[in-house]
Amino acid sequence: MTSTDAPSEPTVEVDPNAVRLTINGREVVARKGDLVIAAAQRVGEYIPRFCYHERMRPVGMCRMCLVDIDTGRGPGLQPSCMVTVAPDMVVDTHSGATRRAQEGVIEMLLSQHPLDCPVCDKGGECPLQDQAFTHGPGESRYLEEKRHFEKPIAISDLVLLDRERCVLCDRCTRFADEVAGDALIHFSSRGNNTQITTFPDEPFASYFSGNTVQICPVGALTSKPYRFKARPWDLEQAESTCTTCAVGCRTVVQSSRNVLVRYLGVDSDPVNWGWLCDRGRYNLEWVNNEERLTAPLVRVGEELQPTSWNAALTRAAELINEAKAAGGPESIAVLGGARGTNEDAYAWARLAHDVIGTPHVYAQMGDGSPIDLLGFDRATIDEAANASTIILMAPDIKEELPVLYLRLRDAAEKRRSRIIEFAQKRTGLSGVAWKTIEYQAGGITDAVAACSDDPEIVRQLATGSVVIVAGRANLAEHPREVGNGVVAALRVAAGAKVLPAFRRGNVVGAIEMGMRPGAGGMKSLAIAEAAAAGRIECLILLGADPLADFPDSDLARRMIAGAPRIISIDTFLTKSSAPADVVLAAAAYGEKSGTTTNIEGRVTTLSATVTPRGTSRADWMIATELADLLGGDLGVSSVDEVTDQIAAHVPGFSAATTAALRSARDGIVCIGALPAATADVRPIDARNSYDYRLVVSRKLYDNAVGTAMSPSLAHLAPGSRLHLHPLDLERVGCASGADVKVTSKRASMVFTVVADDTVVRGSAWIPFNQPGPSIGELIDSADVVTDVRVESF
Ligand code: SF4
Ligand code: FES
Repeated sequence: MTSTDAPSEPTVEVDPNAVRLTINGREVVARKGDLVIAAAQRVGEYIPRFCYHERMRPVGMCRMCLVDIDTGRGPGLQPSCMVTVAPDMVVDTHSGATRRAQEGVIEMLLSQHPLDCPVCDKGGECPLQDQAFTHGPGESRYLEEKRHFEKPIAISDLVLLDRERCVLCDRCTRFADEVAGDALIHFSSRGNNTQITTFPDEPFASYFSGNTVQICPVGALTSKPYRFKARPWDLEQAESTCTTCAVGCRTVVQSSRNVLVRYLGVDSDPVNWGWLCDRGRYNLEWVNNEERLTAPLVRVGEELQPTSWNAALTRAAELINEAKAAGGPESIAVLGGARGTNEDAYAWARLAHDVIGTPHVYAQMGDGSPIDLLGFDRATIDEAANASTIILMAPDIKEELPVLYLRLRDAAEKRRSRIIEFAQKRTGLSGVAWKTIEYQAGGITDAVAACSDDPEIVRQLATGSVVIVAGRANLAEHPREVGNGVVAALRVAAGAKVLPAFRRGNVVGAIEMGMRPGAGGMKSLAIAEAAAAGRIECLILLGADPLADFPDSDLARRMIAGAPRIISIDTFLTKSSAPADVVLAAAAYGEKSGTTTNIEGRVTTLSATVTPRGTSRADWMIATELADLLGGDLGVSSVDEVTDQIAAHVPGFSAATTAALRSARDGIVCIGALPAATADVRPIDARNSYDYRLVVSRKLYDNAVGTAMSPSLAHLAPGSRLHLHPLDLERVGCASGADVKVTSKRASMVFTVVADDTVVRGSAWIPFNQPGPSIGELIDSADVVTDVRVESF
């Protein structure tokens, strides 16, 4: 063998970030920067802790994680949540010194803990209780009187505090400050008197307060709605996905004696990091609400009367056949489907398009974003939260997609991303945005185009990836402005990806499943106009309440009045379903399984943990039975069969089979094949200098069924008041709190006005679907923008 034939040495790739150390006698490889507590956990060595939380910065407050660490100078006790791994480090989590230190910490904590475990909500799932058993001394040497506080005190509408149970771990305060950006709870006093408090006269009014309850390692913070409701050993539970908005946070749904009692956040790395917003966490009360429909109803004269499913479905099929006979299949329209599962939407889309034969199908209520936003190169939430630049041209993400707000806020706060925000009203993210570019309704194209003249912005856009978060920022503005904004942004940031900020639960899934117009089909506004003009013989409302959700109230009223036959599938009798001829009682969240699709296109599973109320049924079952009665056959008899049909037939969803979803804990991203928006810029009349350009958007809490039917949340809706910039209010000539007359070309209404410097000058902002006068009376959905005159009395 010549030297040239000699086998060459295999090249060993040395990972520069690998750190070798020994944990409990075993050599392990960790990553540079890993904390010892996390590295140990990854190799199956759990170190007890109270203050450490993997999603927050370590503080080393509780000392429960003390372990023996030897970095070459002999072993010594160090808090493993504050020490990063180092080469050749030797960690012993079972040494005698470690055990004695941990016993000492537990003994010290219990010296002041009330031990009221039998009446504490945390009993049975309490890290202090558990670690007292596993790492405590068994006996205490402290006999002194313990602290006493008035208990409990309400620190917010949803959270109660029992101060004597607190172990001062700083988790809740860190969460409020660091993660939620609502630094409204903090430690006060010193030493033995240290306690969690709110600021005087300022409650812990955070949209994310429930997370502090979930991460409190003792029962110091408890949820008002869950207090004394159940014990952990009573609970049945299943992992699921929240469908309150379209972020799709991973949850655990818990029930006791067939009643939903609690939702908890689950840490899904690409989506919610374990967090939930309070609306998603506490709106389970609507499912349990006594006013839920328990049986189908049919109209007998003026009244809706309970009946059997057989009779109700037969009547619904008759109505559809009558409509077909009167005006053909195209005289039937189906609105809704965004609140159900993918399976519900798929079965209804097939019923509408294939069995009934109508192209007039749409999942949105005239209040949504245009569906052609789904045709752009789609970004994931992770891509958005790691982009160099995030361009925001969306509604207030904190109000509409709250956990996406946490992810984007984190991106800006940790300086991974710079946010350039286009706003008609400052938003929850304005405080962390690199630039907020204010514009008035109808002006997005010009506002974006002007960026190309700003060298600082041009330089920033060239630094790396760009994600555009786009959605309907103003319900009093034509939805095509959203597409115009994105097209303009793609001109200044070519190659950017788009994360569509759709709001309603499974709206993306419903659209992808086929709840969208077929060839020649109409969307919701055109359907409404057609119904108002008497051209729709039968209107089917699939979990849809257009009287509440259409921005144009007059059009919604004319639609309902103009439809001679209405079939509603719903969980409650709403204003829109009350005039129906047949109301089919639908199963609710937690009562049916299936899948849902979030804004990224991520398909995740939903679990049933309670039985449907009364005889209510899942929407997909109703569609299947109606199809049978109409002479069609959807060919499915279980929800899993529908999921597999979706995988077989819906473009882009082939990976989301039942088998694949079972093992994909974070779901499977599926992107359909919808066309992207193109520019449709039309001239807009200049605003009369005495008028204000109307901005209407949603608050987290409103009159939507999930909130209004949840007693713990219903009173949190702020109500419908007109907000004007303080200088504009001065111009109107009245003080904050006064009543003003607001006039559009449609109507005049009286609103209470408040001064609000987050509103852009020249604009007037009103929250949508709130208790109080409905701004929908002033909106004409045919207009690109709505101008209003504001007059003092
Ligand atoms: Fe920690 Fe709970 Fe006390 Fe907050 S209330 S500091 S989370 S023990
Ligand atoms: Fe390390 Fe609290 S968990 S000091």
